[in-house]
Amino acid sequence: MPSAEVCATAACAIDRVTRQGQSLAKAIQEPLAKLESTRHAETRELVWGTVRWYFRYQPLINQLLYRPLHKNDRVLEALLLCACYQYEFLSAPDFAVTSSSVDACTHLKRPSYRSLVNAVLRKHLRQGGHKRLDQNGYAATPHWLLNEFRQSWPDEWQQIATESNQRPPQTLRVNHRQLTRGAYITELCREGIPVSISPLSSSALTLHRPRPVHQIPGFSEGVVSIQDAAAQLVPWFLGPVTGQRVLDACAAPGSKACHLLESEPNMAALWAIDLPERIPLIEQNFRRLGVEAVLLAGDASQPNAWWDGERFDAILVDAPCSGAGVIRRHPDIRLHRRPEDLSASVATQIKLLSALWTLLKPGGRLLYVTCSVLEQENDRVVDSFLTNHVDAQTKKIQSAWGRSTRHGWQLLPGDGGGDGFYFARLERRPDQQQHAITSTGL
Ligand SMILES: C[S@@+](CC[C@H](N)C(=O)[O-])C[C@H]1O[C@@H](n2cnc3c(N)ncnc32)[C@H](O)[C@@H]1O
Repeated sequence: MPSAEVCATAACAIDRVTRQGQSLAKAIQEPLAKLESTRHAETRELVWGTVRWYFRYQPLINQLLYRPLHKNDRVLEALLLCACYQYEFLSAPDFAVTSSSVDACTHLKRPSYRSLVNAVLRKHLRQGGHKRLDQNGYAATPHWLLNEFRQSWPDEWQQIATESNQRPPQTLRVNHRQLTRGAYITELCREGIPVSISPLSSSALTLHRPRPVHQIPGFSEGVVSIQDAAAQLVPWFLGPVTGQRVLDACAAPGSKACHLLESEPNMAALWAIDLPERIPLIEQNFRRLGVEAVLLAGDASQPNAWWDGERFDAILVDAPCSGAGVIRRHPDIRLHRRPEDLSASVATQIKLLSALWTLLKPGGRLLYVTCSVLEQENDRVVDSFLTNHVDAQTKKIQSAWGRSTRHGWQLLPGDGGGDGFYFARLERRPDQQQHAITSTGL
């Protein structure tokens, strides 16, 4: 069970996410560095779990405190939230969770708060603990986001919110250049590692029990990568790219670019572009997998700065978005996104699509992808794009899991075990050359 030191470390990381606005990935780095590596997995579990249920526990803790904590001591709120998570989801006995949370005050250099933490947690347990809380996953989602879910998916919004609170599976992508999925499964069986085949993609496998990458056979040799199964639908929806010139316009950290390169060794060329600070992530993945592409650091919406003038057969725009389809992997999204962020991301999506459209050959196709379930970022972006580009048409796409939308295909979180992804395939009419009407040209 988590020691006092682990609880204190988790509280520091949770506080960075909830109060200082840091992402989970960044917030955990510094606190974790001070802890033995054998304790890292359980600390992560506490941090991710507590942030996942933050909106459910936080009002409860506020109620239980006699008066608000001083702003310098708010890390104790994180410690209390973390205890609530442990009572509900870990198998440790309640008294042990209370005891290590009380002792964590000393690790947090706030020994005078031991009795307060003890009193608050005992009161919480006396009042029935988590059993008096709303058990629905959607009770842990802020109202504005629930409203967005409801507007986009009037029949499925509760399912989306509930699925967004599940622990995500750890899904692998088998590198078909090195091994078939069947051969890799045989290897895993030999090592006693249970896996399931994903129904979404022929390269996807889900580990029954997540493990650190260095314990995944073949990971460092590029035999497998970590990638959600729905994200692995990209080569299928983009279609064959043999002998073609392909652009991945928002490429970092490079998962989909690597998947395309693994799936089709005979592309004429793959260009991968992202913002300069993100390029090292792509390089790292390319190195591990031993694949190559033309790598560009720049703004994809400003092609004049990097394009050589030769059009592409296929373009992938895996656009920046709210991430509303991948909350189960990044539960901090619920804390950090604001309703007003949506219009900014829609503006970027439309800008990218419009700028990149002119780079596409007549007859070519552009696959627009988001990890969002919000109509605003999906079909409505395509609506806006189609209104302004008479030479564009959508092509129907589908897979075994998910549902058709006005313009594309949507997987909701949990569909076929995957994350929430949206795909729309836009084709440039072959008979029209340069009739794109841009919004500025109207
Ligand atoms: C959803 S992520 C892409 C994930 C990537 N395709 C993969 O599979 O690993 C969106 C990416 O868009 C990039 N991005 C945002 N604005 C951009 C721009 N103007 N030009 C190029 N890339 C941009 C972000 O840096 C981010 O890496």
